[in-house]
Amino acid sequence: MKTDFYSEAKSILLNNDRGGYTVPTEGLYPFQWNWDSAFVALGFAQFDRPRAWQELHSLFSAQWENRMQPHIVFHQEDDDYFPGPSVWQTNQPGVATSGITQPPVAASIVRLLWEQDKASAMAHIERLYPKLMAWHTWFANYRDPLKNGLVLVTHPWETGRDNSPEWDSPMSAVDTSAVGEYARRDLNQVDQSMRPTTEQYDHYLAMVFYGREHNWDPEVTAKNGPFQMLDVGMSMILLRANRDLLVLAEALGKSDDVLLIKQRIELAENGLGYLWNDDVGAYCSYDLIQQQSSHCITNASFLAFYAGVGSPAQKQTLLNRLQEIRDQVAYLVPSITPEHPAYNPILYWRGPIWSVVNFMIGQGLMEQGYTELSDQVWLDTLAVSEAGNFYESFSPATGKGTGGKQFSWSAAIWLHLNAWNNTRDGQ
Ligand code: DGY
Repeated sequence: MKTDFYSEAKSILLNNDRGGYTVPTEGLYPFQWNWDSAFVALGFAQFDRPRAWQELHSLFSAQWENRMQPHIVFHQEDDDYFPGPSVWQTNQPGVATSGITQPPVAASIVRLLWEQDKASAMAHIERLYPKLMAWHTWFANYRDPLKNGLVLVTHPWETGRDNSPEWDSPMSAVDTSAVGEYARRDLNQVDQSMRPTTEQYDHYLAMVFYGREHNWDPEVTAKNGPFQMLDVGMSMILLRANRDLLVLAEALGKSDDVLLIKQRIELAENGLGYLWNDDVGAYCSYDLIQQQSSHCITNASFLAFYAGVGSPAQKQTLLNRLQEIRDQVAYLVPSITPEHPAYNPILYWRGPIWSVVNFMIGQGLMEQGYTELSDQVWLDTLAVSEAGNFYESFSPATGKGTGGKQFSWSAAIWLHLNAWNNTRDGQ
């Protein structure tokens, strides 16, 4: 019998709904994650628009006083996850959260939801806009060390691409001697072969402890912290989010903000050139401590189209890179190029396909007129979600699901892209 993927995707979102917010998956990630929730709203919008908005309102109810939007909101206690609120100790008023941020995709999702139905969205964008603007200002104030619009990250978890080989060299320099004993919980849910090593976890925790010891002071972590990386993904995503925020600011008549956002866009458009690595022919993350490029071509490198950056020659080079990758895998887009020594099609951010990154890459390619490639990226995303049972991520070699199961963002992106595919087919 033909599987009813629509019902399956919808029921994953409904089952992961904890009453106004959605967990990425039961067990492995039992709280509300920042960028997960923004993408989840896109999925809910396919069958319950008020619920889509509620996801974003509940996320932004946890914004910090300094206007950082944290990466996890711990709405309730749950021992399935480590490190929980007692480890982070962020001491903010209101609901407990982690102490770091995550990719600022929310403004772009809000713009999409608004465009789907402007009349019903107006009251929501009026509520959300000031929080989005304030978060983007937080990035400009605390996370732009070179004052060129590029985003500094202080922990690999901020990038969302937690375990990417981009972070191997900068992480290896982080002192883990004070980390001590702890018990991982992720391995109760997912096979070790798909998760980071214990050594990597020691480093992740050392960076959490650094922030905690410095009372999560954003200036201290950014200036003196043990991990200072200019992340290609966050930088592309923030530039794109500013373009989308600009449209919202114009719709709301925020003329002062319009000028400021335009300046930020121009700054980042020029600034991104700093991350271009001619040796590999791609945009790569850059380690500010060791003063070196990661030399890694990841799926985030292809967000250049989504961000709207690159000279004609750079775009052509990136398209060539994507074409070379296409010849080596069954499905696009692996999280690191298969030529990289660390490539592993089932290991967390070291090979698997991630629906949310594919969604953004496909959107950028489509907007820039590369429709044959954008169609392939989006059709591959639908295909692996179906073949891979809406797991957390998917093998580019086989399409098989990897990581956590019944995953909210995989279901949400499938719902969104399925609607696109139906329109395309004229159904
Ligand atoms: C984890 O615990 O692996 C999360 O992805 C951190 O955000």
